[in-house]
Amino acid sequence: MISVAFVCLGNICRSPMAELIFKKLVKERGLENSFIISSFGTSDCEEGNSVYPPARKTLKSHGVEGEHVARQISLKDVINNDYILVMDSDNLFDVLRLTGGSFGEKVFKLCSFTDNPRDVADPWYTRDFERAFADIEDGCNGFLQYLLTEKKDAFDYDKRH
Ligand code: 4NP
Repeated sequence: MISVAFVCLGNICRSPMAELIFKKLVKERGLENSFIISSFGTSDCEEGNSVYPPARKTLKSHGVEGEHVARQISLKDVINNDYILVMDSDNLFDVLRLTGGSFGEKVFKLCSFTDNPRDVADPWYTRDFERAFADIEDGCNGFLQYLLTEKKDAFDYDKRH
């Protein structure tokens, strides 16, 4: 079992997009029993709000469905997850501030798992939800590929138990 938490600032655009995209990729491979997948914001500014409508519309146009209610990440959430996948350098800074610099070994930028490491530009400001979707999908594919090659034993174990 591998637990993954996607993190952005508000938890209404990028990280719920990543959560729902990654859930779909995992399901398509029949691996849903091997994962716990969630998402959080570093801020509480959108706490309790659902997925931002333009983000939801973009997901839907790519065949990705699902819901999420925004919540702020806590230290407990960092401790309880194997991977904390942030969208940009600001998110990375904020998560490490929350942990006092601890647990850095499990915090990664999502697109560091691609051939073109980069930040996921915040569509709240760029208004480019298609670009955000493409970056996030690329990152999710790269991360899943990384797990399937580097953490193969975890999936083999789950299949046996
Ligand atoms: P997200 O986008 O971090 O991708 O969910 C944002 C959502 C809300 C705000 C900023 C970014 N805000 O300033 O309220």
